[in-house]
Amino acid sequence: MAIPWDSLKLVFHAHENISIVQIGGLADDETLFVFKALMEETHYMYHELRLLLSMKSHPNIIARPHGLVMKSRQGDSEPGIVGFLLQLYPGPTLQRKLQIAGPTITMAEKLSWSRQLASALIHLRTQGPGYFPDFKPNNIVFAEPSAANELHHTPTSSVTRPILLDFEQRGTWYTWAPPEVRYIEYLELLALTSGEGQIRQRYTALLKQNFPHWSPEPGFLKRSISNARDGYNFAWTSLTEEGRAKAQMYAFGKVLWCIFEGVPSPDGPRRVESFLEDFQQNQNFPEFQASPPAIQQLIRRCTAGALDWGSQNSGVVRDGDRIVPWGREACAHVTAAEAQDAATQWWQNELALAEEFVQYQYGSRNGREDIVVPEHVAQLRRDIQKRPSLEEVVNVLLALEAQHETT
Ligand SMILES: Nc1ncnc2c1ncn2[C@@H]1O[C@H](COP(=O)(O)OP(=O)(O)O)[C@@H](O)[C@H]1O
Ligand SMILES: [Mg+2]
Repeated sequence: MAIPWDSLKLVFHAHENISIVQIGGLADDETLFVFKALMEETHYMYHELRLLLSMKSHPNIIARPHGLVMKSRQGDSEPGIVGFLLQLYPGPTLQRKLQIAGPTITMAEKLSWSRQLASALIHLRTQGPGYFPDFKPNNIVFAEPSAANELHHTPTSSVTRPILLDFEQRGTWYTWAPPEVRYIEYLELLALTSGEGQIRQRYTALLKQNFPHWSPEPGFLKRSISNARDGYNFAWTSLTEEGRAKAQMYAFGKVLWCIFEGVPSPDGPRRVESFLEDFQQNQNFPEFQASPPAIQQLIRRCTAGALDWGSQNSGVVRDGDRIVPWGREACAHVTAAEAQDAATQWWQNELALAEEFVQYQYGSRNGREDIVVPEHVAQLRRDIQKRPSLEEVVNVLLALEAQHETT
């Protein structure tokens, strides 16, 4: 359905690209919709639309869009698409729920949400690109409990239904991305956006060497909507099918950690990224306080490869309103230059790991039996293999649910 832009009535502007609207001119119809507006590049919007329109429905995946919003522009004979309308789920997002009610969430809810989310990801394996790179608590929103459940007062009647949304498949914050994805993203970011020409050249050359089809041309992956079935995230599209399934488990493990620990983010206020979203939590991934042992084990396996499991720290940490070198929290005499040095050193090390991994995983050194693979590359490969399948996760959750019901 095409809906003219000027028929929309703004009810509430929720988020930079998200507004709650009504369609004007419909007698007595006060239905609220989410208007997801086109912000910058059109290809992500088209990809999301294509996915939403082509996917088979699933109870834990956002419903097909209600309509396209069209706007005429002076000089253009045809109106253009400026966004689309979605069913409004009452929410809140999983992130918000964990923030406001984390400690009060019951074990039955935690198990049920996790199993429903796993079921959504299993469904997605057979739809579109077969993976969901943006899996994180603010892309999960709650629907009202279904009427059927309420009527029957089943043991799950109070358990709500999490819904996955946001199918642009752009990619996610580094917190949720496994190293094998982040590593390619670092190199691409430097090749495309570094302020220094030399750096751009260096990383462009490195990427071309390891991925001959890569190009710094803006939008080389965006060429054609029709052959971009896999989406526009280069790091994810470079993974094999098995690699994608393994990468998917990483964010899943972190979300499991948030659900079972009852906290909104793996990075509490100690991490630098928390300047963006300041959660009041004293706990960081991978510290366990509330997860049952079987869940702890599962989270460990899903997130194998996370730096937090090794000896490497994050270089700098947040200390109130400042960023200081790791371990120097609460020191009065820390200069900005020291924090910058610590951050630079950390990134130099991280980039060296990334460059080497990409060369051994994709480039000319891949598959060569005559050269010794660096230990961190071999370790990451082993870690990736440790990550379980979604089916294994479901089995663990079902077993725990059965145990929980009988106690
Ligand atoms: N259909 C919806 N129902 C309820 N809330 C929604 C819906 N779509 C989006 N939102 C809210 O808007 C936020 C941003 O939407 P999203 O599709 O994730 O866009 P972005 O690409 O900007 O992350 C979500 O985190 C969620 O809080
Ligand atoms: Mg989002």
